[in-house]
Amino acid sequence: MNQNGSHIAAPALAIAYHSGFGHTVVLADAVASGAREAGADVTVIAVDRMTDVEWDILDVADGIVFGSATYMGNVSAGFQTFAEQTGRRCMNGTWRDKIAAGFTNSGAKSGDKLNTLVSLAVFAAQHHMHWVSLGLGAGWNSATGSENDLNRLGYWLGAAAQTDVDANADEVHPSDVETCRHLGYRVAMVTRQLNIGRSASPAASSPPASSAPVR
Ligand SMILES: Cc1cc2nc3c(=O)[nH]c(=O)nc-3n(C[C@H](O)[C@H](O)[C@H](O)COP(=O)(O)O)c2cc1C
Repeated sequence: MNQNGSHIAAPALAIAYHSGFGHTVVLADAVASGAREAGADVTVIAVDRMTDVEWDILDVADGIVFGSATYMGNVSAGFQTFAEQTGRRCMNGTWRDKIAAGFTNSGAKSGDKLNTLVSLAVFAAQHHMHWVSLGLGAGWNSATGSENDLNRLGYWLGAAAQTDVDANADEVHPSDVETCRHLGYRVAMVTRQLNIGRSASPAASSPPASSAPVR
């Protein structure tokens, strides 16, 4: 068992997402699928209807991938409500040194999605988590590229998708689905590597998570 309570062979990951209209759910499931392909034990959690059991799952997970639809150029109110509910955990360092990553989806091709990914990364940093980037070069950026390339929208901080505002959930772009699947696979592999490292060397540090001086 590692310090987060999971066996090294099967990292425990949670996908914690908010979706108002169903598009981001498809991406959450794709992240989960990629992570399972890499051998992770994965739970997908809708953050606007958390149960006590799901809070426990987040608390013991080795890593959490955060996902939110982009609303008004940022995470949705549903996601932010969840984020603010984690204040005590943030103070206590409950999620300290877990792996984190993120994904988002918007209606416009750009849609100010980067701001959403930055918000997710800052949220993870406030929890002292280790952020994993997307790990893909930009797709669809040359004469030989196409909208079917992985990372077709060219993001690095996390996975970013675009879905027409009048599209059904089953019309989420296949490239975006595959990009999210890649993210899940990558997060699972990094988590496994970190767990193996921790079996040989302890976690980074364990001072109090608050900013109060340590005496
Ligand atoms: C209140 C609201 C605000 C939105 N703001 C943005 C935005 O800032 N940029 C954008 O590109 N799309 C915006 N959209 C469109 C959504 O990002 C888009 O419809 C997305 O697919 C919704 O994901 P969901 O189905 O998971 O909720 C907004 C939609 C709503 C309802």
